[in-house]
Amino acid sequence: MKWDHIIRNGHIVTSQESYQADLYIKNGIIAAISPSTEPLPGEAAEVTDAVGKYVLPGLMDIHVHSRDPGATYKEDFYHSTQAAAAGGITTVFEMPNTNPPINNVENFHKQAANLGEKAHVDFGIWAICLGHLNLEDLLPLHEAGVIGFKFFWGYAVHSKTFQLMYNYKEGMEDVIPPFKDGDVLDIFREAAKTGQILAIHAESNDIIQHLTKKVEASGRRDYEALLEGRPNLAEIVTVQTGIAFAKETGARLHILHVSTGEAVDLIKQAQAEGYPITAETCPHYLFLDNEDFHTIGPAMKVYPPVKYKKDQERLWKGIEEGVISVVCSDHAPHTEEEKDGDLWSIPAGMCGVETLAPLLLNAVHEGKLTLQKVVSVLSEQPAKLFGIYPQKGSLQVGTDADITVVDMEKPFTIKRDNLHSKSKVTAYDGWSGTGTPIQTIVRGKTVMKEGEIVGGPAGRLVTPRSQPKNE
Ligand code: NCD
Ligand code: ZN
Ligand code: ZN
Repeated sequence: MKWDHIIRNGHIVTSQESYQADLYIKNGIIAAISPSTEPLPGEAAEVTDAVGKYVLPGLMDIHVHSRDPGATYKEDFYHSTQAAAAGGITTVFEMPNTNPPINNVENFHKQAANLGEKAHVDFGIWAICLGHLNLEDLLPLHEAGVIGFKFFWGYAVHSKTFQLMYNYKEGMEDVIPPFKDGDVLDIFREAAKTGQILAIHAESNDIIQHLTKKVEASGRRDYEALLEGRPNLAEIVTVQTGIAFAKETGARLHILHVSTGEAVDLIKQAQAEGYPITAETCPHYLFLDNEDFHTIGPAMKVYPPVKYKKDQERLWKGIEEGVISVVCSDHAPHTEEEKDGDLWSIPAGMCGVETLAPLLLNAVHEGKLTLQKVVSVLSEQPAKLFGIYPQKGSLQVGTDADITVVDMEKPFTIKRDNLHSKSKVTAYDGWSGTGTPIQTIVRGKTVMKEGEIVGGPAGRLVTPRSQPKNE
């Protein structure tokens, strides 16, 4: 058989262009792209008729917490990558706040083996920065092939397991308090030596502790009170310090899950000055605001918290301007029971990997962004940022045949019980829209078709070093 798979008559969409063509796959690689009017000779094992459909470079979710290993009662990589495949995602980057965390080379290799057995899509692995506790591990982790470095700025962690403390209060036992700015500066210096992305959760613990105490004393338990304890200022202060540290050290700073308009302005300014600082945001900051808590409830609790309408508007503009170049889910599942309770004591986070692409595709119909921009923020820019382009994030001859086929006219309704994740906690239960990934292809192999998961786990580790040398 000359070809493994031909996708005929689809609209190929990249961030730069959109045109009708046939795409030919052989041995997991895009072997040819040719005008539909001039089919290439040779038989194919599989032919997909994509007439009227859009053929996108495989979409990526660079921010996924699958809790594996350590809290697989909440989620595991088998389920989260099925959810990814179902949602049109071909590569995920797994976050390092597992138990054990990905804080050294040994744990990185163990994690690569663990995830490799369960992965329905390709995956990269983040390394965690634990201040002075693992500074000397950062360079070896870089050499071992991590996708980037993550620092949970503002979080306290458990002293033995290093698990995040969601509702930390000063004086708690068995806790490493949030690192001080001096420690963080050391992280920036060390990460800068690797030349890899240093991604930060950006919320100031000092501000949160101080303000939360006051709000809690008032006895208020509502969402507005939560926001008073973790206000825009908590993000602003940390983004500001992060930018200053990046300027000082040369670290390639990436601001995770930006939730405030003010942060967008600060990042825009730093970019205009020529610093290689990048940012992402997530669907919950783009589609929700504080008012939605009345209808959604505790499922919506996430850190940083969802802010106000004016922030949402500035975030969309930030995407349009290119200040925010990545959209990702921050898939952070907890069980139903864990999320059901007092707003101050439940953990932060919700599912998202499966709903990321549909929500953005529907936003195309709403005029919020173009389909080419979707390709940019969900595929091309993430791949470029993390040094895996054009192997991932492109539709070019000779690169991985990672492809998401999309039906822009197909309606969807998000139903919690239909989610593929273990946890069903979502802010979008009952939401409907139009624009659905109908086929997910990872290195030539179909892993989802018409909503059904196809085949077992065959995902592979992606490392920046797996790039061809000439790229
Ligand atoms: C994340 C988690 O639970 O791992 N929770 C969240 O609210 N976003 C941690 C994080 O990304 O900050
Ligand atoms: Zn975070
Ligand atoms: Zn996260």
